[in-house]
Amino acid sequence: MIKQYVYISTAVGLSREEVNAILETCARNNAEQDVTGLLLYNGRNFLQLLEGQGERLDRLMSVIETDKRHSGVLVMHKDDVEQRVCPDWAMKLIAISEAIEVRQQRLEEELPATIDPAIRKLVLNFAMLN
Ligand SMILES: Cc1cc2nc3c(=O)[nH]c(=O)nc-3n(C[C@H](O)[C@H](O)[C@H](O)COP(=O)(O)O)c2cc1C
Repeated sequence: MIKQYVYISTAVGLSREEVNAILETCARNNAEQDVTGLLLYNGRNFLQLLEGQGERLDRLMSVIETDKRHSGVLVMHKDDVEQRVCPDWAMKLIAISEAIEVRQQRLEEELPATIDPAIRKLVLNFAMLN
């Protein structure tokens, strides 16, 4: 069984470098910990989908919750699933494009086809904010 979390959090105005630093940590740790997922950032809020082995993922989630680079971590979804949605992504940053008209289309292209419909909806709604 694989555990999944989806959370949103707030981090106003992080620079691309700051987001990249988070992604570098993800690349370093997640491959080793067998954690996968995706990360969206819109300049104000993060949405992250995390998946991995139960206890390990719980531990990572509590580390992330106390990270000072963001606040107000709100877990929107927590589930045990048979298979990963993002088996190939140590942590994929999905860029939210400026133009609202193309956001949905881009995301539809980038999101894995196997993603649960409820999570897909959550991600798409998040991407349409602001
Ligand atoms: C939005 C956000 C997402 C993060 N995602 C991950 C993650 O997927 N994996 C990870 O190891 N650290 C992640 N971090 C960083 C952790 O909070 C923490 O800084 C890091 O795990 C510490 O790793 P280190 O001890 O190897 O430096 C994230 C931080 C933020 C703000």
